[in-house]
Formats: sequence, structure tokens, C-alpha cells
Amino acid sequence: MRTRSQRSKWIIIGSVIGLLGIIAIGVGVGVGVSQNKSSSKTSSNTASANGATSNSSSNGDPVQTNPNDPSTFEKDPNLHQSFYALAYTPAGSQLPNCTNSLDDVIEDIQVMSQLTKTIRLYGADCNQSALVLEAIKQTKVDMQVYLANYPTPDDSTAYTRQRDEIKAAIETYGTDHIAGVTVGNEFMLNYLNANGATDPNSAVGNQGAAILIADINDTRSTLSEMSLSKTLPVGNSDAGSYFNTEVLEAVDYGMANVHPWFANVTVQTAAAWTAEFFEETNVQPAALLSNKPTMYIAETGWPSFSSDAGNANNGASDASEANLQIFLDTFVCQANQNGTGYFFFEFKDEPWKDAEFGGVEGWWGLFHSNRTLKRLQLPNCVLN
Ligand SMILES: *[C@@H]1O[C@H](CO)[C@@H](O)[C@H](O)[C@H]1NC(C)=O
Ligand SMILES: *[C@@H]1O[C@H](CO)[C@@H](O)[C@H](O)[C@H]1NC(C)=O
Ligand SMILES: *[C@@H]1O[C@H](CO)[C@@H](O)[C@H](O)[C@H]1NC(C)=O
Ligand SMILES: *[C@@H]1O[C@H](CO)[C@@H](O)[C@H](O)[C@H]1NC(C)=O
Ligand SMILES: *[C@@H]1O[C@H](CO)[C@@H](O)[C@H](O)[C@H]1NC(C)=O
Ligand SMILES: *[C@@H]1O[C@H](CO)[C@@H](O)[C@H](O)[C@H]1NC(C)=O
Ligand SMILES: *[C@@H]1O[C@H](CO)[C@@H](O)[C@H](O)[C@H]1NC(C)=O
Repeated sequence: MRTRSQRSKWIIIGSVIGLLGIIAIGVGVGVGVSQNKSSSKTSSNTASANGATSNSSSNGDPVQTNPNDPSTFEKDPNLHQSFYALAYTPAGSQLPNCTNSLDDVIEDIQVMSQLTKTIRLYGADCNQSALVLEAIKQTKVDMQVYLANYPTPDDSTAYTRQRDEIKAAIETYGTDHIAGVTVGNEFMLNYLNANGATDPNSAVGNQGAAILIADINDTRSTLSEMSLSKTLPVGNSDAGSYFNTEVLEAVDYGMANVHPWFANVTVQTAAAWTAEFFEETNVQPAALLSNKPTMYIAETGWPSFSSDAGNANNGASDASEANLQIFLDTFVCQANQNGTGYFFFEFKDEPWKDAEFGGVEGWWGLFHSNRTLKRLQLPNCVLN
């Protein structure tokens, strides 16, 4: 869910250049820590290309043996729970045009649950928290969702409006399928852009951080007043280079967008670059803080298309399904083995972003917006 900044996923250029410089020497440093973690094998690959899968109806939607029971959907043998997590925004969840529907979200959950046990949302407008939790309930899938509040620096009502939607959803559905509540998406990036600054820890950055931390604190008090059956962690998400230290000190987890595409890295080196950038820029600094927030990659992926020729290449590689395949083959199972928590960006294409931003913005899905798989072989290294 983007508001207005087309630069939303960008990473500070200086950091990128600096990092490229140290990749060569830095590869072995600090990344060997968690080699063992999963039982997964290194790769890869099953049969499905082009979405012509046997257990999907012709429009890409899962078949239900009982049309009235969403839990009876048939599994697609070509899909595997190989992703640590997926980034997800239900279609039609942007104010003022709430056109999302429970049926559509149920079908999304039926497909996503065959790829992962964890998803994240970006915001709470248009009842999306309740829709996702209702869909999980009806499909009976084993899935956890990070709910999210997408406050905007120039509109304080956005925060309270979404807080109240999240609160209502938790009151209805309980916490069984909620992994956490994320407050803020690219808030610091947007605040700094709006105020002509770039350093998240500058005086201007700390001003923005104070607004965000007040919202984070308010979410904590809201949740603690609800006497829930489990304590929900509260986190924040931002571009990888835009974390303010005081914000990180106020959260249980941080989610960092780490995008090799916007860093103009070749697709062949994209997975290693992503791992290195995340380790250096996010994991190591967070580990030095007294609260030691858990760090995740909030978004990483590769676009399969651009709506204009000018954005069809990042300076090093093309936006294409073939290159998305390369990134899948070099990132997913390896990151699982390394014990990296990441949200693959993203489940399906988002036409509203293409309409609003153009370029590659709408074309990051593993699936087309109609829920048919792109010309991809999805990884097969099932996570336990
Ligand atoms: C789904 O969308 C893709 C991309 O637009 C298209 O090629 C495909 O034919 C569509 N499939 C169906 C069943 O509509
Ligand atoms: C469809 O999925 C079911 C499991 O849900 C499986 O038993 C069956 O073999 C699949 N059918 C085909 C044609 O792949
Ligand atoms: C809402 O939808 C209408 C009709 O599709 C469209 O004209 C309008 O631009 C949309 N508004 C926003 C803010 O997306
Ligand atoms: C939100 O979605 C839930 C689940 O479908 C539904 O029960 C509820 O009525 C919806 N609320 C609003 C305000 O649309
Ligand atoms: C947020 O909560 C922390 C911990 O209680 C407190 O130290 C800090 O002053 C609060 N900050 C804001 C801006 O409310
Ligand atoms: C990537 O390349 C584009 C096009 O040449 C350029 O505008 C942009 O500044 C570059 N970004 C980085 C992070 O180097
Ligand atoms: C996994 O860790 C190795 C070092 O142990 C590193 O070279 C590689 O880039 C990492 N890959 C991913 C995708 O995390």
C-alpha cells in the first residue's frame, strides 16, 4: 500500500555504493552465524510453468469440493510452503475506494496458504484486518498475519482510524492467528522526503520519529488494555536505510525493505546483495540496541514487467519473469537455510499501483492480479 511516493522502496544511494564496495570483503563476515537453521535443501523447482495447474479452475481460483465450505479447497501440487512469509495487500483496500471482498480474500488465502504460513499487511483501512482473519477462519488454514497500521505524517486521523479497525478485528477474532501489529510503513522515508532531509537520525528525523513513536506507544497501550490471551509484539516497517534508532528502541521488531532492483544490482548478484545489505544495515545495528528488536526483510523481490520502457531495466538487469525466476532460485531456499526472516514481495500484481505510479510498481507479484501463476517454477524447500 503506497501513498504517494514513487520512490517508496528506494534505498539511500550512498549506502548502496558503500555497500557494493564492501560486499567483496564482507561476504563471509557476520553471515555465517545461522547457517544451519532449517532442514531445507538448497533448491529447488517443481513442474508448474504458466499457471496451467491441475487443481485450479480456469480463472486461477482454487476449486472447492464443497462450494459452500472454503476449507475444502483442493491443493495445487505445484505449490509448496517454501516461503518464510509473503507481503500481501487485498485488492481494493485503498480509501476512498473500498472494493475488496471476503470472497476475493478467501481465494487469496487459499492460494497463499500453499506457499507460506505467514503474511503481512500494510494497513488497516477498508476492513482488511477483519477480512483476512475471517478468511483464515473459514479456510481453516495454518496461517499467522502481521496486522498493520499505515499512519501518514500529515494526517493524524489515519492512525486512530486504523487503530480502531485493528482493535475491533482483534476483539472479534482473538489473537490466535495474529503474529504482531506493525505501526508505520515507510513513515520515516516519507517524513524525510517531505521535509527535505535524508538522514533518519538527524534532528528532522528525530522529529518524525517522535510522531511515530507516539503511535507505537499508543498501540502498545491499546493492546495491553484489551487483556489479550497473548502479548502481541508491536513493530515498524521502513525502507532498509531509513530506520531511526529511537524508533527501533521503541519496537519489538523491525521490518526493512531491501530491494536489489532499486539499488541497480544485477539479478545474478541480487540475492547475495540482499543478504549482505540486510545484515550490515539492519541486523547488526539492531543487535547493538538494548531491546534487540528482531529484524525481518519486509520486502524483497524482483519485478517481472514495466509499464514503460524507461523503467524496464534497473541499469543492470531487466524487469522480467525470467529474472524473477533467477531471484527466486537464488534467494528463497538460501535465505531459509540462513535463518533469515523475509516477506517475499509480493503475492500478486497490484493494478492500482500501476495506475497510480506506473513503471514497475504494479508488477512484483508471483501471480498475476487474476491469481494465475506467472511463468515461474516456485521453489520447493518446504519450511517446517
Ligand atoms: C490472467 O492474467 C494474465 C496476465 O494478464 C493473462 O495472461 C491470463 O490469460 C489471465 N488468465 C485468465 C484465466 O484470465
Ligand atoms: C488435487 O488436489 C488433491 C489434494 O487436495 C490431490 O489429491 C489430487 O491428486 C489433485 N489433483 C490433481 C489432478 O493434481
Ligand atoms: C476511485 O475509483 C474511481 C472509479 O474507479 C476512480 O475514478 C477514482 O480515481 C478512484 N479514487 C482514488 C483515490 O483512487
Ligand atoms: C468486516 O469484515 C467482516 C468479515 O467479513 C464482516 O463480518 C464485517 O461486517 C465487516 N465490517 C465492515 C464494517 O464492513
Ligand atoms: C514511548 O514509550 C516509552 C516507554 O514507555 C517512553 O520512554 C517514551 O517516552 C514514549 N515516547 C513517546 C513519544 O510517547
Ligand atoms: C539506478 O539507475 C537509475 C537509472 O540510471 C538512476 O536514476 C538511479 O539513481 C540509480 N539508483 C541507484 C540507487 O544507483
Ligand atoms: C546465506 O548466507 C551465505 C553466507 O553464509 C551468504 O553468502 C548468502 O548470500 C546468504 N544468502 C541469502 C539469500 O540469505
